[in-house]
Amino acid sequence: MANEDKIQTLVEKNAEAELGGGQARIDTQHKKGKLTARERIHHLLDKDSFEEIDKFVLHQCTDFGMDKKRFPGDGVVTGYGRINGRLVYLFAQDFTVLGGSLSYAVSEKICKVMDLALRNGAPVIGLNDSGGARIQEGVSSLAGYGNIFLRNVRSSGVIPQISAIMGPSAGGAVYSPALTDFIFMVENTSYMFITGPQVIKAVTHEEVTPEKLGGALTHSATSGVAHFSGKDDQAVLAMIRELLSFLPQNSREQPPRIEPTDDPNRVDMQLRDVVPENPRHPYDMRKIINSVVDNHYFFEVQVRHAPNIITGFARLNGMTVGVVANQPSFFAGCLDINASIKGARFVRFCDCFNIPLITFCDVPGFLPGTAQEFGGIIKHGAKLIYAYSEAVVPKITIITRKAYGGAYIVMSSKHLAGDINYAYPTAEIAVMGPEGAVKIVSKKEIAEAEDPAKKEAELIEQYRETFASPYRAAARGFIDEIIFPEQSRPKLIKALESLKNKRDRMPGKKHDNLPL
Ligand code: HXC
Repeated sequence: MANEDKIQTLVEKNAEAELGGGQARIDTQHKKGKLTARERIHHLLDKDSFEEIDKFVLHQCTDFGMDKKRFPGDGVVTGYGRINGRLVYLFAQDFTVLGGSLSYAVSEKICKVMDLALRNGAPVIGLNDSGGARIQEGVSSLAGYGNIFLRNVRSSGVIPQISAIMGPSAGGAVYSPALTDFIFMVENTSYMFITGPQVIKAVTHEEVTPEKLGGALTHSATSGVAHFSGKDDQAVLAMIRELLSFLPQNSREQPPRIEPTDDPNRVDMQLRDVVPENPRHPYDMRKIINSVVDNHYFFEVQVRHAPNIITGFARLNGMTVGVVANQPSFFAGCLDINASIKGARFVRFCDCFNIPLITFCDVPGFLPGTAQEFGGIIKHGAKLIYAYSEAVVPKITIITRKAYGGAYIVMSSKHLAGDINYAYPTAEIAVMGPEGAVKIVSKKEIAEAEDPAKKEAELIEQYRETFASPYRAAARGFIDEIIFPEQSRPKLIKALESLKNKRDRMPGKKHDNLPL
């Protein structure tokens, strides 16, 4: 064959591979409001930066007539490219090829890019859209999943791993995304569940739609399995690009610092009035977060799940920070099971990837109730203590109002190796709220008083004056400085810069034993 013909063969083979399962299936994909694997890659990566790997890989199955159903590249498109100029590895399952189902060959392609990502210290992104294990391949397909899970775990904490669910993700196939750092879901076109509606109906007689069972809203709000959701494929892909802009390429690097365009000395007098005078009144902690971070821009993680704790990324004078904050406008900012898990997971991610933690504390305690106790708030609350205690990144805290009891300790207190701990003059740092405290310690005195209600009110006020302030804690050095609220941003930035070269380490160990 002449060289020119060989070139022509390559052109034709490339075109065939790029058509995936064929035009009809591409049209069906579009009709569902979904992009194809290649279109998704195009939207995700910097222009013309995609380098494909394994375009001509074929599955090896011959059972069930599969030898006649071969598509070059099989059910996944893999390779590497750039996002904001930085290297990423990725795989995009191609639903047009046998429903994006996972053959052993598909798993080998995925494992190859995962190995490359790990060796080269770059994030790996998985765009999932698959009917799960390739049924015709039986155990080979299951082996493929196992090989992926192993790599997910071995890469955990070394390189950022990001999953987008952009179609079905059912059965054990959910576990690779679940082992990664962040899950994005597309609203209305994606779902994740271990057992589908039909199996559930047969076993428990419950009737549930796929969307209700495992759609983006369910996993963003109720289960907390997903961290982000977007209205369509493009929205989700844009959010992935944004997330990566905050992160380092791997655990040995610092997060990228961008040229700041916001004044580091900016003060905000409105912060003096955010915390209401009545300690029972709620307020939105986001007002404080948005005020202090660069350009008022806060990229929130898990917005809908456990809204009593806020987590997300922002920048302070160009430096990436992870923000954790109690939210007094939900459950008064109490810590419950979901909030503890949400907070702990976020803190651990930040610590893995050298992202300093900024904590805003206004917490009246752990949420009381049998549901919480039976659900194991003891072990789940312990996760947040654990996460903050083991975190060796710079840790800066501002107590805006309540810091009561165990929850005071949890929220990045000095006692869990907080580096710089500030309090507003409105802070109340105590074992519990004045009302509860007085009822316990002055029970007899109140009962014996001429006017018990008046006495109780007096004692509450007295307690508040004495203990429910930041001054006792400051007198012990548990608070480094009581700051004027308007100074929050410059104070945080100066503290962060002072901690730039922080070196701290957990004692050497095989691995930890986080309470699960
Ligand atoms: C092989 C599959 C497949 C699979 C879909 N296809 N899933 N081929 N193995 N798992 C093929 C179909 O035969 C069809 O091929 C094409 O993909 C598109 O599928 P449709 O059913 O036409 O599409 P749609 O109506 O959109 O339905 C999508 C679906 C459904 C909901 C995903 O296909 C489905 O329920 N698939 C099976 C899901 C499942 O039970 N998977 C196993 C889960 S257990 P043609 O040639 O017609 O285009 C599992 C274990 C993993 O994954 C364990 C890891 C530890």
